[in-house]
Amino acid sequence: MNIAVAGTGYVGLVTGTCLAEMGQTVVCFDVQKEKIAALQQRRSPIYEPGLEQLIQKNMSAGRLSFTADEKKAYGEADIVFLAVGTPEQEDGSANLTYIEEAVRSIARNMEKDVIIVTKSTVPVGTNERIRQMMERLKPPFLRISVVSNPEFLREGSAIHDWFYGDRIVIGASKEDEEAVAVVAKLYEPLGIPMMKTDLASAEMIKYASNAFLATKISFINEIANICEKVGATIDDVAYGIGLDKRIGPQFLQAGIGYGGSCFPKDTKALVQIAGNVQHRFELLEAVIQVNNKQQSMLVEKAKQYVGCLRGKKIALLGLAFKPNTDDVREAASLVIANQLIGEGATVVAYDPIAVDNAKKHFPPSVQYADAIIEAIRGADAAFIVTEWDEIKRTPLSVFREHMRTPIVLDGRNCYSPEEARRSHVTYISIGRAPVL
Ligand code: UGA
Repeated sequence: MNIAVAGTGYVGLVTGTCLAEMGQTVVCFDVQKEKIAALQQRRSPIYEPGLEQLIQKNMSAGRLSFTADEKKAYGEADIVFLAVGTPEQEDGSANLTYIEEAVRSIARNMEKDVIIVTKSTVPVGTNERIRQMMERLKPPFLRISVVSNPEFLREGSAIHDWFYGDRIVIGASKEDEEAVAVVAKLYEPLGIPMMKTDLASAEMIKYASNAFLATKISFINEIANICEKVGATIDDVAYGIGLDKRIGPQFLQAGIGYGGSCFPKDTKALVQIAGNVQHRFELLEAVIQVNNKQQSMLVEKAKQYVGCLRGKKIALLGLAFKPNTDDVREAASLVIANQLIGEGATVVAYDPIAVDNAKKHFPPSVQYADAIIEAIRGADAAFIVTEWDEIKRTPLSVFREHMRTPIVLDGRNCYSPEEARRSHVTYISIGRAPVL
């Protein structure tokens, strides 16, 4: 089997590399020549634990290669994984331009029957449209099949998730049963439960999964906000409800909301998809609203406990939307940095990995520190925005030693209120009583 992967973003790169690791011969294609050049030099354009090593290993083994030449990518391919971006448009719907470009390119260059496997998150009905487009554009003597195979990888633990995922979803229409068997065989060595379904259901599973997880987060964040008012503690409440197997303990970590390239985009897209069939998805609209509100929560609390922020030095600790990634897309840090600058504060930011990406998106007046201590030195308040291990390992006593006024606003509940009391810092977290 020759496998091609269209798109070397986070999904494409992990898919291509992990398939190569499973012994397949894989060529990854991207229109961005500089990205391909870096990959050919064995450098990963994204930070994902373990990925660069696997890229290097599989390139050395001759199973993994990268090209910006579409003929080289698709000419010999038996299977093409579509992993191009589907960015959010102004109205919240997914932009399918890159999907369409990739489909045209495959049709132009294919020299064999080909199975198209869609990994990109696409609105319900898109795979059917991909099939119709391919039927129209492909050479008449060749056959195509279209399979929807959504990805459930988390940034920061994508390699682990590939090999130890909870399920593999394979969607196709009746006439593509042979293609389903081929794709199922590819995944068989992983021993992960597999489900087969129709195209629309596979597409819907992806959106419904992300929407449900986002709902869990907004739900627990609202519970946390109520906890603060009624004198309950979110840690105990989340633990207590999570013991119910029907609820489960995961994704009940209260904080300053979800970010990243998936939940914000996919929740809005699902509202849009529902709207297109005259269904108002009110619950998901509320989930999105709660998340927007939650991202501003820390600045509101800072105004309450620090007072006027004008001229104050604020340390912003953690910029990535979650730990173990350099991704700052839709990160709460971005909202917070803009608000703090708007309030007239001086922002000194620290992140172990994401600074280069942050510099492309953050207001230019944000300053960057090379270490936590440098960021908090002389600060009037410190915001903890991403729960990096390095941040969690820094005792609160260090904040007291180095800050001008030791006020820590923790958006990720990295510390216990007991530690805050022992360390004599003012500690404001989420869903717990403030330590003053
Ligand atoms: C998410 C899903 O978890 C994956 O299954 C899915 O494949 C992926 O989107 C995608 O659609 O590609 P990801 O965005 O990488 O993965 O990261 P998550 O670990 O899900 O975290 C998303 C956001 O939710 C982060 O900002 C995180 O801080 C926040 N979060 C997560 C919470 O605030 N509380 C929690 O309990 C869990």
